[in-house]
Amino acid sequence: MGLFKDVLGNQESVFRDHIPLDYDYIPKLVPYREQQQRQIAACIKPLLTKRNGRNVFVHGPPGVGKTVAVKHLLKELEEETEEIVPLYINCWQKNSMYKIVLEICDLLDYRFTHNKKTDELFKIIKDILNKKAVVIVLDEADKLEDEDLIYNVLEEIYRRTVILITNYKDWMANLDNRIKSRLTAEVVEFSHYTKEETHGVLSERMKYAFYPDAWDEDAFALAADKAHELKDIRLGLYLLREAGNAAEDKASKRITKDHVNVGISKLEEFSIKEKEALEDETKFILTVVKNNTGKKIGDIFKAYQTEGGNSGYKTFQRKIAKLSDNKFVSVKKISGGADGNTTLITYNGSVTQLSDF
Ligand SMILES: Nc1ncnc2c1ncn2[C@@H]1O[C@H](COP(=O)(O)OP(=O)(O)O)[C@@H](O)[C@H]1O
Ligand SMILES: [Mg+2]
Repeated sequence: MGLFKDVLGNQESVFRDHIPLDYDYIPKLVPYREQQQRQIAACIKPLLTKRNGRNVFVHGPPGVGKTVAVKHLLKELEEETEEIVPLYINCWQKNSMYKIVLEICDLLDYRFTHNKKTDELFKIIKDILNKKAVVIVLDEADKLEDEDLIYNVLEEIYRRTVILITNYKDWMANLDNRIKSRLTAEVVEFSHYTKEETHGVLSERMKYAFYPDAWDEDAFALAADKAHELKDIRLGLYLLREAGNAAEDKASKRITKDHVNVGISKLEEFSIKEKEALEDETKFILTVVKNNTGKKIGDIFKAYQTEGGNSGYKTFQRKIAKLSDNKFVSVKKISGGADGNTTLITYNGSVTQLSDF
């Protein structure tokens, strides 16, 4: 039938290798982040001379290279020495002490985890790690449901650097005092890339992923400008891939602006859908507050879960804070009650009625 003939024909692909366009690919170099990597490395260095390391708090908006810079550093460390165990954990995927402890067992090749409780497993890990030194990275640390793991690591692992990564600058300030006082972390900030830097990062990835001359210069510039406008390298990688696919669909050996525009329109479709989904979640939380107005935040969270909400507590708190910023709800902190400090949330639509009492 020749259905595939004009698509594939004798024509080579524009792609040399798809892998460098993957979001979790770790490139040989992470340009523009050398300074941050040096800062973090300086905190790890004492571990090489049998001293304790310093802890690090990494923050910055999404898509600016926090994860890739730290992973790259761990890789280098692993090549350098066997004395330091590198542990990378994504807390979005593993958000409780138990899940993280299991993950660490797995990373350490400890297999006999069946029927063991969190405390037992932690003791096993501790005994292994205390024979060496460890760098433990908790990426997206704001997704942690509780802070027990951080506390236990700080208390019981003697030679370590804890690296906490988050998009939220304020997250660390809200940590429990018993953790903050033990953490005393060095703060490393990642800010947005400039336009030139965005072009630089993407052109490196382009060189690995595509054949030379696959890209029209103005097509690449369009993709990189869009990534800069949206302030996220990830979206740039997405556009490179989609434009490449669009060119292949048309059996074109070169990638032009038209192909990039196909990617851009997909991107817009995608982000509108995401925005609607986000709004739905926030609206849902607002309804739960309305039905439980004046109650403690913890109780409202329980009601939210009972009604099918599945964000973690931290996310829930952040959404409440957003709703409060926009005056949909009021947040009142009460200290020293029967349960210690607590926060009451009130739905603002009903404020007038309440004030009649
Ligand atoms: N300086 C850089 N060099 C190479 N790739 C980068 C750089 N900065 C970001 N990236 C890439 O952009 C994407 C987003 O970066 P990531 O580290 O995941 O961001 P963050 O953790 O800050 O949200 C990843 O695919 C990453 O490989
Ligand atoms: Mg990240």
